[in-house]
Amino acid sequence: MSDTTSNQMWGGRFAAGPDAIMEAINASIGFDQRMAAQDISGSRAHAAMLAAQGIISDSDADAIREGLLTVLSEIEAGTFTFSAALEDIHMNVEARLKEVIGEPAGRLHTGRSRNDQVATDFKLWVRDQLDAADAGLIALIRALLDQAEAGSDWVMPGFTHLQTAQPVTWGHHMMAYVEMFGRDLSRVRDARARMNESPLGAAALAGTSFPIDRGMTAQALGFDRPAANSLDAVSDRDFALEFLSTASICAMHLSRFAEELVIWSSAQFRFVSLSDRFSTGSSIMPQKKNPDAAELIRAKVGRIFGANTALMMVMKGLPLAYSKDMQEDKEQVFDAADNWMLALAAMEGMVKDMTANRDSLAAAAGSGFSTATDLADWLVRVLGMPFREAHHITGSLVALAEGKGCDLPDLSLADMQSVHGEITADVFDVLGVENSVNSRTSYGGTAPAQVRAQIARWRRTLG
Ligand code: ARG
Repeated sequence: MSDTTSNQMWGGRFAAGPDAIMEAINASIGFDQRMAAQDISGSRAHAAMLAAQGIISDSDADAIREGLLTVLSEIEAGTFTFSAALEDIHMNVEARLKEVIGEPAGRLHTGRSRNDQVATDFKLWVRDQLDAADAGLIALIRALLDQAEAGSDWVMPGFTHLQTAQPVTWGHHMMAYVEMFGRDLSRVRDARARMNESPLGAAALAGTSFPIDRGMTAQALGFDRPAANSLDAVSDRDFALEFLSTASICAMHLSRFAEELVIWSSAQFRFVSLSDRFSTGSSIMPQKKNPDAAELIRAKVGRIFGANTALMMVMKGLPLAYSKDMQEDKEQVFDAADNWMLALAAMEGMVKDMTANRDSLAAAAGSGFSTATDLADWLVRVLGMPFREAHHITGSLVALAEGKGCDLPDLSLADMQSVHGEITADVFDVLGVENSVNSRTSYGGTAPAQVRAQIARWRRTLG
């Protein structure tokens, strides 16, 4: 509803209230009420600092700090009435504070502006989400470590181009994702360390003439230090973009794993069985068990990356310092954060619950000429052949097996020797998949011993 009177917080120079459309486009209270707790923490820290600096009286600061707790409890209890006429969370809280404590409420906004206030609130909110992502990633990594450990020596096909390439171990494949999510975790921590500077006290854009102590509010709010440039402090949103790009990269990783789970759980692969708890049925086909959680995780990267792109476009070309464009930052970040946390939790649940089908993995590992490279390596090692020639001869053997409709270990020695006379029966030792994976002991390779070493390293790292 538009108001016929001018805004009670800033309407001194206005004779009339806003048009209803103006109010609709201007108000952010519909979404920024999610930052109520952060807004109240910021205001409480600011009030305490104003008193400590002798800018307001101790009794006013006490009334403000107490009153803000009352407002917070109303918001948490759902009894608070948010007003679009009051635009945003900052003015809604302050207006209610005035109703609760009266005149001292008007002193809270000394030496600050909504510009540093919103930057502070939003940073605190994003910081909480980075902490939640940190915990979510650790939980997911632990679930993957458990899967890797259980099947550290289980063989499966490794793919390139989604064509069978060489046998690998289940543990090795799980650990590939541990590395990815581990880098996501380090990106989360980097982003947190970089963003942890307090905007509060930058005021509208230029700082303030009041003798404020920005170090005190920074410390009270858990920031490492005050941001060093007031123009930058109120207009920087790269912390939000870093959050979104970190979320995007992680969501991309989640989508790749989700895609593998969709493929692996199909009747054609049967590499894994997803639990009933993370699958759904079909309303028409009674036999169906669909990997919906995996599919939705696969899709989440779309909206998360979309949020990143949207905010990048909002910020592009904005002159310093604050512009109202920046109010468009929050919904993108809120939506991306909600979906990122949900995707992390759903993936953790799926990984914990899923069962790898050891027999199907092993059967697939041996098909598709997966040990052809081992054969070529044998020709190099035992017959001293240049690798290029060994590659060519192995290719001929693959063609021979394909023609006979069998796999490489099923060829007879005579078949082998028809392609190259010096091949001996020893070659069959390297054609088994177990041998293949056990031989790949190079650092970071798929051999179970290497995989176990990496699992142990990650467990030590996580503590
Ligand atoms: N609701 C605003 C936002 O989200 C708060 C800051 C308003 N500042 C201003 N100068 N109008 O960005």
